[in-house]
Amino acid sequence: MNRLLLDALAGSNGAARPPVWLMRQAGRHLPEYRALRDKHDFLAMCRTPELAAEVTLQPVRRYGVDAAIVFSDILVTADALGLGLRFEEGKGPIIEKAVRTAKDVSALPDIAAAETLHYVAETIALLKKELTVPLIGFAGAPFTVASYMIEGGTSTTFRNTKKWLYNDPDTFHALLEKIAELTIDYLNMQVDAGADAVQLFDTWAHSLSWNAFKEVSLRYMKRIADAIAARGVPVILFCRGSGAFAPLLAEAAPAAVSVDWTCSLSALRQIIPADIALQGNLDPDALYAPRAALQREVNALLKEMEGSSNYIFNLGHGIAPDVSPEAVATLVETVKAFEPLCTTK
Ligand code: CP3
Repeated sequence: MNRLLLDALAGSNGAARPPVWLMRQAGRHLPEYRALRDKHDFLAMCRTPELAAEVTLQPVRRYGVDAAIVFSDILVTADALGLGLRFEEGKGPIIEKAVRTAKDVSALPDIAAAETLHYVAETIALLKKELTVPLIGFAGAPFTVASYMIEGGTSTTFRNTKKWLYNDPDTFHALLEKIAELTIDYLNMQVDAGADAVQLFDTWAHSLSWNAFKEVSLRYMKRIADAIAARGVPVILFCRGSGAFAPLLAEAAPAAVSVDWTCSLSALRQIIPADIALQGNLDPDALYAPRAALQREVNALLKEMEGSSNYIFNLGHGIAPDVSPEAVATLVETVKAFEPLCTTK
């Protein structure tokens, strides 16, 4: 078993190179994914353990990354709540029954992950038989999942979400509360099935003010992180807007904070408590650079974090669908070829 990721999360990655895995390492940039996707609907792939497991393994086989992330989506919880999730070409996720009122919140059913999301546990069980690298489970953070439920899909302004937040915070919190409880149940199920670590994605947190972030993002991520950490499983917290919010994420005391490309990792290292690992933060658009320039960008980040016993190489956000697999391979090879100076840590 390759333990680089788990060692880095525990702060004991000694003198080895940092582990590398990439957000959205599975998916549309891979021809082998597109070949399967031509034959199956995206949600059908998530719901079919054999297909989801196969797609999870594709980037592990092709690139030799140091971790797998289970193939699913942050919005399967919205689907499980019966809100009518579908994905439309070019439009992204669409939620038919948007949640807009207090009445909509109280109408949400009480569901158990084991009944509605069991296919994710089955996918994890299949993967655990095959993998020789750690498997990361994941979920959306309540604020980001709520924003999709409220907007009915992807938004650039989050108008309905922010209006609700400022007009009727009590019912807004009731919605977050509901999603947080389901998320804890869902992640516990993933841990029971064998997930070695868990990442929470708060993709749209950069739309929030400092104070609102504490109230509607951090509070719920902390509650979820505490519940999972109590099981002895490391939790990684990711949000966009981490250039500002990383010190707040650290207040939740997760195993790691995953940051976007708007901040200096070495400067953050000085601020974030030493026992919290850092993950990130190459600009995903660096994958469009010519090979030599990409290698320079990757090496610059590796040099910047050299000697750290708890650094995890990743992008600041996911791989875009039009990135070439050759560029991703160059990134991974460059991290793996890095020979850090021996440290005494
Ligand atoms: O490899 C991995 O990272 C694991 C799989 C994964 C997917 N979605 C697969 C996927 C993960 C971790 C996610 C998380 C996710 N989903 C987030 C948080 C991370 C982030 O990227 O910010 C968000 C915001 C979503 C919601 C979502 N799902 C969007 C915006 C889209 C893209 C819509 C589009 O068509 O552009 C999806 C669909 C999706 N999720 C795809 C994949 C591979 C593409 C589906 C397809 O094949 O058509």
